[in-house]
Amino acid sequence: MKILGISGSPRNNAVSTTYRLVEHILKATGLPYELVSLRGLKINGCIACLGCVHDNVCVINDGMAELRQKIVEADAFVIGAPNYYSAINATTASMLERWFQFRHRTADTLWGKLAVAVGVGGTEGVAAADQIERYMAYNFIETVAKVTTRGAASCYRCGYGETCKVGVPYMLFGEGVKITEDEIPDLSRQPHTRQAAEQAGKLLAERLKTHNKQAVAEKMQKEMAEHFKQSV
Ligand SMILES: Cc1cc2nc3c(=O)[nH]c(=O)nc-3n(C[C@H](O)[C@H](O)[C@H](O)COP(=O)(O)O)c2cc1C
Repeated sequence: MKILGISGSPRNNAVSTTYRLVEHILKATGLPYELVSLRGLKINGCIACLGCVHDNVCVINDGMAELRQKIVEADAFVIGAPNYYSAINATTASMLERWFQFRHRTADTLWGKLAVAVGVGGTEGVAAADQIERYMAYNFIETVAKVTTRGAASCYRCGYGETCKVGVPYMLFGEGVKITEDEIPDLSRQPHTRQAAEQAGKLLAERLKTHNKQAVAEKMQKEMAEHFKQSV
């Protein structure tokens, strides 16, 4: 049993809330895991070349090639992304787009696996977690939990945070906002988020104990068929 964690933040792991939150969930599972940061990888988006339709292996030679094997071997995923413009950031989107390589013909490599989606935003992370859940569903992967929180937007430390009229501190707290260390969002001061992360990790481990991949795959396939029919 192995869980693959992927943090899509381009920021240094030590300052990235996404990285730390994904790690917190992974630790809470009590299962073996590997955590990969996309920070050091160069992964472009899908170019729809269809080079993967015959064997479900992407022909583009970039950072996704080394990540692919880890994705295939994992029983479950904890995937986190920062919210950029009310969506997952481009780095994570490029990586997830490339999971298109697993979606051809009898490609059931990922079908029925489980995931936890993590979203972090300067104001909110829900949009990012919801989007990750949708990406997972396209490969019939069930998202068993979503964990979201506020991260330390760069505006708190850019030097102009108290006066910049488009920055997160001003937008959240208005004129005269004072930035003190205690008010900068940080997991160490977010007991509810840590608790949610621990619950998500434990739930994932629990679900993996009695995991019926085939049953999950069938359930997700039905859900996606409904989603396709309702789309206009
Ligand atoms: C280009 C850019 C766009 C952003 N847009 C949003 C946004 O629309 N909503 C939001 O809540 N936070 C936004 N943020 C703030 C980040 O989500 C926030 O800094 C978060 O902590 C990043 O996660 P990380 O700490 O793991 O890097 C944006 C940040 C950047 C750099």
